[in-house]
Amino acid sequence: MTFRLSLVAVAVVAATLGQAVAQDFPGSKPITFVVPFAAGGPTDRVARDLAEAMRKAMPGSNFTVENAAGAGGTIGANKVAKAKPDGHTLLLWHIGMASTPALYRKLPFKPLEDFEYLGLVNEVPMTLLGKPQLPANTYRDFENHIRANAGKLNIAHAGLGSASHICGLMWQHAVKLNESMTTIPFGGTAPAMTALIGGQVDVMCDQTTNTTSQIEAGRVKAFAVTTAKPLSGHKLLKDYPTLQEMGLKGFDLSIWHGAYAPKGTPEDVLKKLNAALKVALKDPDFVKKQEGLGAVVVTDKRQERAEHKTFVANEINKLKPVIDAAKQFAD
Ligand code: MLT
Repeated sequence: MTFRLSLVAVAVVAATLGQAVAQDFPGSKPITFVVPFAAGGPTDRVARDLAEAMRKAMPGSNFTVENAAGAGGTIGANKVAKAKPDGHTLLLWHIGMASTPALYRKLPFKPLEDFEYLGLVNEVPMTLLGKPQLPANTYRDFENHIRANAGKLNIAHAGLGSASHICGLMWQHAVKLNESMTTIPFGGTAPAMTALIGGQVDVMCDQTTNTTSQIEAGRVKAFAVTTAKPLSGHKLLKDYPTLQEMGLKGFDLSIWHGAYAPKGTPEDVLKKLNAALKVALKDPDFVKKQEGLGAVVVTDKRQERAEHKTFVANEINKLKPVIDAAKQFAD
């Protein structure tokens, strides 16, 4: 006797199992945020602060962070795209989700098809920095020094497609100094910052979540912020001009960070994760930590899954011409 299970019955069983998975989620198994850069950098900082707030928002959960660096963040992102879609492996990534499609001709994942969007988390300004020995104390000195030494200086970043790479490209494009500096890639801007402080690299553009403490301690020189508006609410960063004030028309760059799960994660699990994310984004400790580092926590509809995805789709289209103009490919 052959035992035939009708397609309807298979669907019912699958749906029931899926619901069972969701009802028990998260269970005792940890929920891991994969950070596609080295520990100690700005992406890692956001992930660790968010993991703590999510633990509080989802009682009984155990959120952890795992660093999977390399290739401008695409190695870690691909790890999550290919992970088991059970809600226990998530990605915390930034503008790289939108920059890498233009830079990597053989990107191993499709940003808009291989992920479930859990919500946008924050937006982080960037700062233009120099090593302590750089002979410049104002933005004007800084730009004149780079122009006078075109081809002789280097700029650090966290790999092609990283926020620090995009910022460097945009700045050089804006001041018509394209390809005037040698780019030095690192596994993240934490090791890049160590090299800048040590004088092994000359310049870097990095997020305030990583640079505020170093600027305050006088370990690096800061010259400008990348947002359109001055950071007038921040005790330290308010003293730095915007690049628009320095004559770079329309320069406006904030690094947004979003949370993602692998495509196919059960709908009820996604709903639970998005609900916990929205609670976490209102957590006073999380907000205080992020604002103390110059970041702005998302409070608008981009916290919702559909709006988060629409936002990233628009960012992919916005960044493509900027990256195409730099005529750089990562592969
Ligand atoms: C970036 O430049 O993309 C990030 O700052 C890298 C990092 O978080 O280390």
